[in-house]
Amino acid sequence: MRSIEILREEHRVLRGVLDCFDSVLAAASRDSAPNMEIAGELLGWFERFADGVHQNKEELGLFPRMLAAAPEISRAVLKELMWLHAEERRRLVALRVGFASAQGPDAWERGRFVAAARAYVEFQRHHALLEDEVILPRACEVLDPAVDDEILRTYAQIELDALGPNPEDPHAFLARLRARAKELVPSLVPAGHEDLCAGCDGCRVASPGACSRGF
Ligand SMILES: [Fe+2]
Ligand SMILES: [Fe+2]
Repeated sequence: MRSIEILREEHRVLRGVLDCFDSVLAAASRDSAPNMEIAGELLGWFERFADGVHQNKEELGLFPRMLAAAPEISRAVLKELMWLHAEERRRLVALRVGFASAQGPDAWERGRFVAAARAYVEFQRHHALLEDEVILPRACEVLDPAVDDEILRTYAQIELDALGPNPEDPHAFLARLRARAKELVPSLVPAGHEDLCAGCDGCRVASPGACSRGF
């Protein structure tokens, strides 16, 4: 189902963004202060896209259909997920507060921000893995493909409400972020086609050079 594949693809982008954030934070731990410009841009993306779009697609698009299709099976697995979503939002709000404090000269506050951000990265990796390995396979089992269009309409409305009519493609954001992070952390593994693209339009299978998104 396209509605499930979209979430898998967004998890791939999220992992790429988390890897970049981790590299920037690791460099800050080794050297001195984190690059606050990149950190601020990343926090904005987590708020706007990871929460405002991706997580809302799950909460308002996919999960209600899973509950309607198979309430007994879905309730147990989604209960854990809803806790993870609430916890993720709580951590992100705390990170935003920590980010403001880390802008000052106090090295202790910057260290606190870096530690909390690295914990957030690990939390989000676990969250996406749980969904890829447990929730989305369960969705494939319980959902009738006939509801796909209905879920996709919900997704489209969420994107429009959160990002407006001409949003930046999350793959483009990741490519831009990687380029900037590599300037800061040259040891960051160069972005490769396979890192960035799950095979949109089958290009991964056919030929990386045929990638329709230019990766
Ligand atoms: Fe989620
Ligand atoms: Fe997710």
